[in-house]
Amino acid sequence: MPSHPTRAPHLLLRRRLLAAGALLPITPALALIAPAPVSAREDLTVLDVPFVPTPMSVVDAMLDMAKVTSKDLVYDLGCGDGRIVIRAAERFGARGVGVDLNPVRVKEAQAAARRAGRAIESKVRFEVGDVFKFDFSPATVVTMYLLPSVNLKLRPRIFKELKPGTRIVSHDFDMGDWEPQAKRDLDSSTVYYWTVPANAPTNLKS
Ligand SMILES: C[S@@+](CC[C@H](N)C(=O)[O-])C[C@H]1O[C@@H](n2cnc3c(N)ncnc32)[C@H](O)[C@@H]1O
Repeated sequence: MPSHPTRAPHLLLRRRLLAAGALLPITPALALIAPAPVSAREDLTVLDVPFVPTPMSVVDAMLDMAKVTSKDLVYDLGCGDGRIVIRAAERFGARGVGVDLNPVRVKEAQAAARRAGRAIESKVRFEVGDVFKFDFSPATVVTMYLLPSVNLKLRPRIFKELKPGTRIVSHDFDMGDWEPQAKRDLDSSTVYYWTVPANAPTNLKS
């Protein structure tokens, strides 16, 4: 049974993406004044998920559900502009790592951390990398706003590589038949929460 019987997740992401960025091309004057450098364009043939930032109210709900504290090391898989990791450092003093395949996003995240001040910048790190190859095993909290297919592809690694008790929160998309321990709807979004079990059920390991 899909989590959103009335909303197709891919359509929702696409709708948000359009709302966020696709209005720009209809203002050609702006494009002429400030044409996007080639390196700044999102290559959707390479990215597994387009960039759609999580609204800050939902970021806060994700961090609250994961009960983040200053002892945590938060990894955001597909970190975009770094907002989740930076917010975790600002609100809770947590350390964090963000990984994104798009170097433009990583530069934005690093710039945002710099703007947040030295105390925050010293707690966070952003790297260009592919979530399917990146080592996120040190995490105590993992945050994700990816797509259902990407979540499912990551699921075996979550069971194999993360420590039991690691908390996971996902914006909008679940993990198939791995039932969430909590679920919260807010501001047209849904946040799912799991903890990594000591022994994963065999049917969920692949
Ligand atoms: C929906 S956005 C989420 C951004 C941020 N986590 C947030 O919630 O605001 C997904 C991000 O994943 C990145 N991404 C897509 N495929 C990726 C991959 N294979 N490895 C790492 N990042 C990827 C995109 O560049 C994009 O910034």
